Parts: sequence; C-alpha cells; structure tokens
Amino acid sequence: MVPLKRRKVVSSAVGNNNAADHSGGKAPTKFPQVVLFLLERKMGASRRAFLSQLGRKKGFQVEELFSENVTHVISENNSGEEVRTWLDSQGGDRGPTPVHLLDVSWYTESMRAGRPVQVLDRHKLQKQQIDEAEVVVFSVPSYACQRRATLDNHNAILTDALSVLAENAELSDEDGRGVAFRRAAAVLKALPKPVTRMTQLRGLPCLGEHSLRVIRDILENGASTEVESMKQSERFKALKVLTGIFGVGTKTADRWIREGIYTLQQLRDSGQTLNRAQQAGLEHYVELNQPVTKAEADAVGEIVERAVVSVLPGAQITLTGGFRRGKLTGHDVDFLITHPEEGREEGLMSKVVSWLESQGFLLYQKTTRNSYLESKDGPARPPSNMDRFERCFSVFKLAKEEKRKHPGTLTENAEDTCRPGAHMQVEGAESRLQTGETSQSQVQTGEQRHLVETKPAGHKPWRAVRVDLVVSPISQFAFALLGWTGSKLFERELRRWAGHEKAMSLSSHALYDNTQSKYLRATSEEEIFAHLGLEFIPPSERNA
Ligand code: CTP
Ligand code: MN
Ligand code: MN
Repeated sequence: MVPLKRRKVVSSAVGNNNAADHSGGKAPTKFPQVVLFLLERKMGASRRAFLSQLGRKKGFQVEELFSENVTHVISENNSGEEVRTWLDSQGGDRGPTPVHLLDVSWYTESMRAGRPVQVLDRHKLQKQQIDEAEVVVFSVPSYACQRRATLDNHNAILTDALSVLAENAELSDEDGRGVAFRRAAAVLKALPKPVTRMTQLRGLPCLGEHSLRVIRDILENGASTEVESMKQSERFKALKVLTGIFGVGTKTADRWIREGIYTLQQLRDSGQTLNRAQQAGLEHYVELNQPVTKAEADAVGEIVERAVVSVLPGAQITLTGGFRRGKLTGHDVDFLITHPEEGREEGLMSKVVSWLESQGFLLYQKTTRNSYLESKDGPARPPSNMDRFERCFSVFKLAKEEKRKHPGTLTENAEDTCRPGAHMQVEGAESRLQTGETSQSQVQTGEQRHLVETKPAGHKPWRAVRVDLVVSPISQFAFALLGWTGSKLFERELRRWAGHEKAMSLSSHALYDNTQSKYLRATSEEEIFAHLGLEFIPPSERNA
C-alpha cells in the first residue's frame, strides 16, 4: 500500500490532469492553469481542510503539499512579509512564473463564482509588489576587518540569538564553533537594514547551516526554540553564573558543575578552595557584573593618570578596549601605558601598582612581567591571543560619583575602608600560593572573611571595578593599541586576514612579513592597516 503522504507528493508531481489523485476525487480539475495551495499558518488545520475540500468539489486543483507546480498561495491573516518568508523557507519561488500570494478573499470569491476570479490588487497580499522591488539583497566582504561595524545593529534579535549559541559553545570549550557563530552574528550586525527574508542572505559570507536554521526559525516564528531552551538549560545558566566570577574560567566552572555546584550559594557552602582572584571575584560578584559606565571609566582614567605621572613624568596613558570603540558601558576599563623614550617604560608597572596600592585604590591586583623578546620569540611562533606585555589585572576601589566630586573625602574613604590588617592577610595567602604551599586553612580563613562581609552594596561609598593595565614600549605602541582596542572578533579577523591573505603574522607586538622575511614597523594604526592592504577602520567602527 502506498502511504497517504507519498501518494500526495506523486499527485502534485504528475500535474494537473489527473483528478482521480486528489483526495476525495469529487470532481475533475476544471482549471488546469490554476494550482492552489492553502497555507495552514494562522488558518488552522481544520479550516484549511474544509476550504480545500470545498475547492476540490468545485473542480479546483488544491494541493496538499507545496511544490513548484503551485501557481496561487492562499493565506488568511498573514502579511505578505510572512508568506514570503515562509515561501523562502520552502526553497523560494522557483517556478517559471511568480506565484500569486493571495488573501483568502480571492479564494472565497472564486468559490462563489465557481471559477477563478480575476486577481485584483485587493486580493494580493499587502506590500507584495513593493516588496519585489524593495528586497535588498545584502552583500558584505568576508573578513570583519574589511567592514565598518558601528554600535547600532539593525538585527539585534538575530545577533542576540547567535551570541547565545556562541557563548554556549565558548562555555563548553568549543571555541571553533563559538567563532563560527560570532562571525555569523558579525555579518548580520554589519547589514544596513533588518533582515526580513531568507533570500536577502543569499551569497553572504560566514552564514553556516546552523546559523541559517536559527535565523529562519526567528524570521518565521519570532524565536528559535533551540536558543530559548538553551537559555533555560540548568547547565548553561550555571556556566554563566560561575564564569561570571572574576578568576573562574570554563574548565573550573565545568568541574564545579560536575560536582553539583550550580549557584554561588552552593559554591560558598561547598568549601571549595578558591584562589585569590576567585575570592575577590566572589566577594565583589554583584558589582563586577554590573556594567561600568563611561563616567566611571573616566574617573578610573584620572586615577591611573595621576599614578603614572607621579611615578614617571612624561609617561602617557591611553584608554583602549570597548570604551575606545565608543561603547557606553563595559565589563572593565582597559588602559595602555607607554613612554615616548624607548626603554623608559621598563619597571613602570610595579611602580604604578605600588602607588595605587599605597593610595588604597586597589582591591585586587595581579601583575605579570613582560615576556616578549623579538629575537627570542620570532615570527615563527604562531600568533596567539595572549600577548606578553607587562600587564596588570586588577579590581579598583572606585569612589561613588558624589564622593568623587569631593576629593577630600575620597582619600578618607579609601583609607578607612582599606583595612591594612585584612590587606596583609590576603598578601600572605598570595605568597603561600605562589610558592606552591597551598594552605587550606589560610584560604578557608580568607574565604570566610569574604562570606562575613556580604554587606548591602547600596550604602557603600565606593564600588569595585575591573581594570586592565598594560605597559608597552613606544616601538610596539601602535601594535599594542590596535591589539587592545578590539573587538575580540575584529582582532581575530585582522590576524586571520594577515595570515591567509597576506602571508603576514600580526600580534599586539609586531607585524612580520613572511614573504620578505622581515618585520614591518609602524608608529600608527593607520600604517598597520596600510601594511595589511586594508582600508583604515576607525575604532568606533571596529565593533564587530
Ligand atoms: N585582550 C588581549 N589579551 C587578553 C585579553 C584581552 O589582547 N588576554 C584584548 C582583546 O582582544 C580586546 C581588548 O583586549 O581587543 C579588550 O578586551 P576586553 O576588555 O575583554 O573586551 P572589550 O572589548 O573592552 O569589551 P568590554 O567592554 O566588555 O570590556
Ligand atoms: Mn574592556
Ligand atoms: Mn579587558
């Protein structure tokens, strides 16, 4: 026996004249030029079945399944936009003549007349004709570093969904998949208008099968079930909460989850050994997950500037990261420090950190020494995300705005809340950790101290802010500036472009030309773009 579904497919492929194949077979097809398809969307299955049956009785060919033989698509309460989107998802309008997209009124009038009535404008789905002319088929270059991406995004619904998938992949240590979704999102971000139909995406780079499926779901149904259920998944939520702790990476979070730790409270109760960064991260969890405003970034900048000029007059600081790209908020504040005389920057970081510490501005800091040596590292080393500048990951204690306006009270607050005793204790724990002598009781004591101090954040005169400081010699400054301005995807794409298209290796230290076997020097970002054969993209348009 031929299954019902199969028989119907055959019937639509055979064509117009075999009336016996149509369900019911009540009457032969009277109008062979007209092949109808009723869209179930919003009409509902039972009304569709009723109307189809009615049509067939009157001698119309009403198809059960959509195929390229269909000449008229009938829908009820759908916009032209919606039906177009649906049509695209069926593989588009591929027949020799365009399909009529009609309102059910044409169908009912035709039923009444007993023949297909003339298609009038009022029968056509709204905007259908304008749409034809207005469809923008987008085109963008393949590499994000060839595109200008400002902060406005006409496709936030789509890019937010793709970002969730990217985030989930990154949190699961599947960086390759993460990058694929980030690239797809970046392509949509670069489009000048909202995407309304799948056909607009034809020929766009970086849109893989999975990303396209998610986009289609959202265009058709308003949401992607995959993304929505991911957001609700316990594992995804736990990974987000746990990696939201400064100092906790995906591997640690994953291990904790396997041990049944899903929440901050469970982590606190578990007695897990936390390192110094994680202790600070847990203690200041709420504030460190609160976006940093531009005003706060500027206030931090003033403090860093004071520190830098106090310890080395002539040294300069530059705001980098998201704030240099014009973002209004960020997860941290990034600064690049240099001195116009090569070599004068040596040893600068430890002096800056000491100054900040002595003034009570630091809640946490970890400094790593410069480990880049051109002669030793050479270009053969694969370009890595991580550069080797002298850098400091820190948590600043920033006075709240009203306090900042009165510098006198700032010092007082900084001092009286700094608690020299507690400070010493943490430093002690750190030196033990560094010598590998992890004393459980010491760390536990430290952790308990944090637990006791969960005070309401609202009444404090200061907040915790993540700050990244990097020191670069002036000879590498342009590379460091470019490398630390981001976005992360933009940087990644610059390096990919350099490697794949130009046979060059780009890092935050240097640019090496593998063909000429030499370093290409630069004193500005513009020169680096020129070496790479790219049009200069200003920071505000690097928000890929
Ligand atoms: N960066 C880096 N090496 C790291 C961390 C970051 O080179 N170990 C670079 C990134 O590539 C990015 C810049 O530093 O270009 C800023 O990184 P980050 O502060 O993480 O991101 P932002 O773009 O500033 O975003 P946010 O506003 O959330 O801070
Ligand atoms: Mn940043
Ligand atoms: Mn940063």
